[in-house]
Amino acid sequence: MEFSLVTGDITQHDSPAIVVGIMQGVTELTGAVGKVDLALDGAIASLIEDGEIKGKRGEITLLHTLGKLQAKRVVVAGLGDADSVSINTVRALAGSVGRFLRSKGVTNYASAIHGAGAEGLGITECAQALVEGAELGMYRFDKHKSEQNSPQVESITLAVDDDSQTEEVETGVNRGRIIADAVNLCRSMANEPPNFMTPTAMAEDALGVATSTGIELEVLDRPQMTELGMGALLGVAQGSSEPPKLITLRYNGDPDNEENNLAIVGKGITFDSGGLDLKSAAGMLEMKSDMAGGASIIGAMKAIAQLKPTINVVGIVPATENMPGGKAQRPSDVVTAMNGKTIEIGNTDAEGRLVLADGVAYARSLGITKIVDVATLTGAVVVALGNLASGIFGNDQTWIDTVIQAGEDVGERLWQLPTFDEYKDQYKSDIADINNTGGRGAGATIGALIIGEFADGAQWAHLDIAGTNRTSKVDGFNPKGATGAPVRTLVALAESLSAE
Ligand code: BES
Ligand code: ZN
Ligand code: ZN
Repeated sequence: MEFSLVTGDITQHDSPAIVVGIMQGVTELTGAVGKVDLALDGAIASLIEDGEIKGKRGEITLLHTLGKLQAKRVVVAGLGDADSVSINTVRALAGSVGRFLRSKGVTNYASAIHGAGAEGLGITECAQALVEGAELGMYRFDKHKSEQNSPQVESITLAVDDDSQTEEVETGVNRGRIIADAVNLCRSMANEPPNFMTPTAMAEDALGVATSTGIELEVLDRPQMTELGMGALLGVAQGSSEPPKLITLRYNGDPDNEENNLAIVGKGITFDSGGLDLKSAAGMLEMKSDMAGGASIIGAMKAIAQLKPTINVVGIVPATENMPGGKAQRPSDVVTAMNGKTIEIGNTDAEGRLVLADGVAYARSLGITKIVDVATLTGAVVVALGNLASGIFGNDQTWIDTVIQAGEDVGERLWQLPTFDEYKDQYKSDIADINNTGGRGAGATIGALIIGEFADGAQWAHLDIAGTNRTSKVDGFNPKGATGAPVRTLVALAESLSAE
């Protein structure tokens, strides 16, 4: 999708469609919508009067201009109540409008920059949200379809009042493109069927990020992992004929300041059959996206490498299948993680915490002191929070709050769940240091705490995205399938920690 800028009166713009925003309850039409209304001899005002246009959030009204304007069509897009217009409104609306116009066969259109001028919203962030919304909302995963349904939107022109705004808008457009591209990379990896998205394919996608941005890539194979003692990851991998990979991307944004670091670690289970503790058919069906956490790391690293915050960021993805092959690990096996801790396998389906044990221990071995891990870890978090928020857990409240704030800034909800010390009794083992399961109750917390056992003094937070990584309904900037959460949070976090 191309984005360009045009200054001056939007009504003079020759385009198949122009899009203007409207707030709920306005009586006087000003700005772009005012100019368009005038050119249409008050058509918008009269539709408002008739109650046909209310300006409700997400409301879309299509008008044909019948020669009164250069553009053939006008879309009036509702922003909702003036008090509650936020950057999230603008992003979601841009997605819905883009899909709407695409469904009408429109392949290019012009848009006012919605939200700019509303309380507390700057033009740069509104332009960014508009680009993100359009790119994310019109994303399609159609590479395995022989025929495409409708042509994709090719270009969007953003209309600004005068030249003084161009630089700010260009900054927003550029940021929006980088971030949306990263989210869509994550989505495409997670939407890919598991016979395509193997651990090897994940490593290839990481290589694509490294070559296009110039950041460092390291991919460890089974022998190197054996050498490092990553028995927890290798135990999961041993039931599969696909070779496991430990993928590390490094962005050195503050090379003279090694302590200014962050590790983002993502679960990369490219298919979770459950292992010998096999899942049910229904439970297994969505398990191609059990690598969504890992994909979010690769996506976020791509954006971070381009936005260049002043911080060193390491992205780590322990990637493997969890399969019940003849060599598969057994329930009651004992494995030893990289840091020497022994783990009894209470359930082979609790494999995410095992690969993350070694992923997090690896981050510690690199001297990292701030860690966020991201995983489709538990069904329990879906029971607790549904798909409206990811669960967040951690060992340091300041760090947890920093991560929650990064999510808040980009409209990705994180909801903290408890990690009381007493919960730790649940995953005691009679024969090893810990068990990988903790019986009934507090399943999401138990999974989180087990990963936390490997953080070894670092500030650590865990995001359980089991409920938020996919969606079954089209809404705003999310089509069906992988959402790309929490790529935008991870990027915002790295930027918020930037030393400059
Ligand atoms: N990948 C699953 C968790 C999951 C469930 C993700 C539903 C997305 C949707 C994970 O590996 C798993 O199977 N967890 C078990 C843990 C249990 C065996 C302790 C679970 O949640 O049931
Ligand atoms: Zn599992
Ligand atoms: Zn899993």
